[in-house]
Amino acid sequence: MVRLPIAFAAFACLCIWHVEGIVVPSSAPSNAAAVDPSLVSVSIEFFAFPGYTQLRGTSNCLANLASVRGAQPAVRIGGTTQDRATYDPNLQTPVNYTVASPADAPTALTYGPSFFTLASQLEGEVTLGLNRQLNNQANTLAAGSRAKQSMGNLYAIELGNEPDLYSSSSPIAAGNGWSQSADISSESKWFTAMAPTLGNIFQGAVYLSWNTRTLVSSIGSGALNAIKTISRHSYPQSACGGASTNLPSLMSHSGIVSYVSQYAAEASTAHGAGKRFFLGETNSATCGGGGISPTFGAGLWIIDYVLQSALVGVERLYFHHGTIGNCAYCWWGQDAVYSPYYGAVFVSEFLGADGAKLAMLDNGTSATAVYAVYSSSNAPLRLLVLNSNYFDGTGTRTSTSVTFTGLSTTNGTKQTKRLTAPSALSRVDQGASVTIGGDGSFGSDCSREGTERMEPVVVNGNALTVSVQASEAVIVYLQ
Ligand SMILES: *[C@@H]1O[C@H](CO)[C@@H](O)[C@H](O)[C@H]1NC(C)=O
Ligand SMILES: *[C@@H]1O[C@H](CO)[C@@H](O)[C@H](O)[C@H]1NC(C)=O
Ligand SMILES: *[C@@H]1O[C@H](CO)[C@@H](O)[C@H](O)[C@H]1NC(C)=O
Repeated sequence: MVRLPIAFAAFACLCIWHVEGIVVPSSAPSNAAAVDPSLVSVSIEFFAFPGYTQLRGTSNCLANLASVRGAQPAVRIGGTTQDRATYDPNLQTPVNYTVASPADAPTALTYGPSFFTLASQLEGEVTLGLNRQLNNQANTLAAGSRAKQSMGNLYAIELGNEPDLYSSSSPIAAGNGWSQSADISSESKWFTAMAPTLGNIFQGAVYLSWNTRTLVSSIGSGALNAIKTISRHSYPQSACGGASTNLPSLMSHSGIVSYVSQYAAEASTAHGAGKRFFLGETNSATCGGGGISPTFGAGLWIIDYVLQSALVGVERLYFHHGTIGNCAYCWWGQDAVYSPYYGAVFVSEFLGADGAKLAMLDNGTSATAVYAVYSSSNAPLRLLVLNSNYFDGTGTRTSTSVTFTGLSTTNGTKQTKRLTAPSALSRVDQGASVTIGGDGSFGSDCSREGTERMEPVVVNGNALTVSVQASEAVIVYLQ
């Protein structure tokens, strides 16, 4: 796609232009964040995991991310139903449950040894979520032992999901009430009881709303030693109980900067204790997504949210996938790939296989996000400009042009690649055309389709200018 010269486009559509001068640091700034190769990872709801292994989209969508980053996405298997699951060493199928409707999650289920065989076939590191809420430690230990035996890719084990939501009538509370301090004491007992068999392999906290710093600072050295990683769950919006959602606010760059900043202290405390810090389950909006989760705007949110999270010390984000066929924020499903996945791929293309350090080049207060990614030898590789202004498909689509200065190239051309769609509301599952590089998309099995094309941009006097429409993003390739 050849774009019109700015002056002509501006004249033609009377758009609003903001030209900003941003100096590209010639080497990674001291505050640049290290980028984990599996920064963009995936969480799959426990009961639904065997079903996901049957979808062609699962292997292809994960493989696309892996080929762009040169490393497999990690997978966490867990969620609400891990705390409803009981291991049955004699079960011949991976899972067994009954639901009234295929859209429902089961209230109870059993799973067998072949569940772990399926998990062992995932290419990336696997974090396995086991049950604590039902207070059957022997059963969970039997499951963990079998997992350890079966899974060469086993990375970490969770004991319980979102214990903030357990009640005093949960079996684990044993009639003694439930609170964060009760949970920390419970996590401590379970970790220290199982570590001699399973190793120092636990993913601690797994909190939705409680602060993980409290756990790290008070669980005690014995249990802390058994913890490998700290998980915090994060959903910026909720549609639960009829709560309303808001796409412009989800996408907003300054809103994302502000929202993600809450995790900086938790990441720092975890790192101070020698633990890795992950958003171990995350996505846009809970309880059905409130209409905003399957949109292109949610795909743009993923890009900015992933990069901001990395900057505050989150080493991986595990984007959750729930019930197949009833999952508004999912990246793929039965014979379908959804708009948010395009954001996951685009941010992965920006980071690339060689991206080692990330810097933000804007001040976090405007609608325009600007990032630079650097190689392990501190050379600038690529720039990303994301215009988070909300375009709903009506009226004039505004555009922002960003001028970069201080490039090592004096004169010539650089290549750029654009992620776009008709509007922030565009849904691939409703036939909208979301594209990477003008023509790149994904087939129903998540195989790549079309040809991604670059748009050249002129470098003049060590500077270049890119133009990005509202609700659109562009990568600039500096090398
Ligand atoms: C599967 O679960 C159902 C209840 O949902 C139960 O009736 C049945 O016996 C279970 N089958 C096996 C093989 O455990
Ligand atoms: C942040 O950047 C925007 C866009 O370049 C600019 O308009 C604004 O004045 C800056 N704010 C601060 C506090 O520097
Ligand atoms: C590069 O661009 C600058 C600014 O337009 C110009 O003055 C200079 O002559 C150009 N140099 C080359 C080698 O083309």
